[in-house]
Amino acid sequence: MATHQSRKLPADFLWGFATASFQIEGSAAVDGRGKSIWDDFSKTPGKTQDGRNGDVATDSYRLWRQDLELLSQYGIKAYRFSISWSRIIPLGGRGDQVNSLGIKFYSDFIDGLLERGITPFVTLYHWDLPQALHDRYGGWLNKDEIVKDYAHYAKVCFEAFGDRVKHWLTINEPWCVAILGYGRGVFAPGRSSDRARSPEGDSATEPWIVGHNLIIAHAHAVQVYRNHFKRKQGGQIGITLNGDWQMPYDDNPENIDAAQHALDFAIGWYADPIYLGHYPPYMREVLGTRLPQFTPAEIALVKGSSDFYGMNTYTTNLARAGGDDEFQGNVDYTFTRPDGTQLGNQAHCAWLQDYPEGFRALLNYLWKKYNTPIFVTENGFAVKGENDMPLEQALVDTDRVNYFRGTTAALLAAINEDGVDVRSYFPWSFLDNFEWADGYLTRFGVTYVDYETQKRYPKASAKFLIQWFKDHHEDP
Ligand code: NOJ
Repeated sequence: MATHQSRKLPADFLWGFATASFQIEGSAAVDGRGKSIWDDFSKTPGKTQDGRNGDVATDSYRLWRQDLELLSQYGIKAYRFSISWSRIIPLGGRGDQVNSLGIKFYSDFIDGLLERGITPFVTLYHWDLPQALHDRYGGWLNKDEIVKDYAHYAKVCFEAFGDRVKHWLTINEPWCVAILGYGRGVFAPGRSSDRARSPEGDSATEPWIVGHNLIIAHAHAVQVYRNHFKRKQGGQIGITLNGDWQMPYDDNPENIDAAQHALDFAIGWYADPIYLGHYPPYMREVLGTRLPQFTPAEIALVKGSSDFYGMNTYTTNLARAGGDDEFQGNVDYTFTRPDGTQLGNQAHCAWLQDYPEGFRALLNYLWKKYNTPIFVTENGFAVKGENDMPLEQALVDTDRVNYFRGTTAALLAAINEDGVDVRSYFPWSFLDNFEWADGYLTRFGVTYVDYETQKRYPKASAKFLIQWFKDHHEDP
């Protein structure tokens, strides 16, 4: 459209939808797959809101051809999905057997994408650690073992798929792995050292150790790729971090500092070592020796270990000083402005409101601070009560359309007006799916899934995004 001529996305911009293995595949015990930490965890009473698990999910391990067809109909340029470690190496370790059926599944899937002109964007670790590694040596808590096993698993994937995959993400949202899995205990493996708020003042140690080990594991996998595969395969590799925009509650200097402190704990924890070479000073101040130190060799490995910034973002918080939640940097989060109004439209989940200005502000912040190209690898909205609506009503997901109308406009403005180098946009998610501790109650899909029949139905948001990208993306 001529009116958009000067406000278009770069020709090589990648857009598409995102998913993750455990959230969609099901077929938990098929073709030699080993258990992941989410298998038993999601079956433990009380761990998912609806008591349901990932055994079937959206049945995408069986229905992958059908999913490919739908992706192709949507006309996306790229598709972000994750590989299940325990399908590739059922027991997970470097001495354990590689499962050829697991390799074949992803290999066929990748071929199917490429045949349809869709670029595969592959996450190596989206939270489904092989259970055997957790049982054997404590999984992410054991630096020496997990770093070697993860790097080995990554190498197996580069060898098997790297001739066709040119975009790799090492680890998805390490903050969630560490804080939700080892701090609050609401995600697998359900370890809880959430004592930061106790009157005794006991303090958590495990999340900071796990975070450290995730960073080093990521960096090792990148080293393997750069040393042995990059020249021949010519791809890019990086990490993807969750992080929402943090806005000072008001102009009180304490709250302005609080917003930065919140960013340090949510984003800087990972991004500062990886892009700048050290942990944020504020984290060291708060955590002291509980935050591990990098050895000189480790920091040499970690600094510069991502070819880009992978950005997952959903919302904005108003940050206020005086909080007592150490996992948020002792910053209090709220959506209620000083005048009592809400920041934006409320989503189904308590942590998410629609505030597109925050999306643009975050892009600018990251670009200025880390000075590296940004791939937006996740962004999305869960419509309130969607799971309880009749199908016809759920398909008219106006709140999600409004959300994407806001973020796509913010994306375009960040690129064209602010000069931020953004290379991709992947709305979460292609399908409604297993939303971790929420079970199936929270739906993030642009495609509705009827879990009784496994039928897929495009929602209005899918149509909106497809049209928007048609209008704003020059074909190369
Ligand atoms: C982040 C995660 O990567 C994804 O697995 C999750 O479903 C979405 N955010 C929505 O919560």
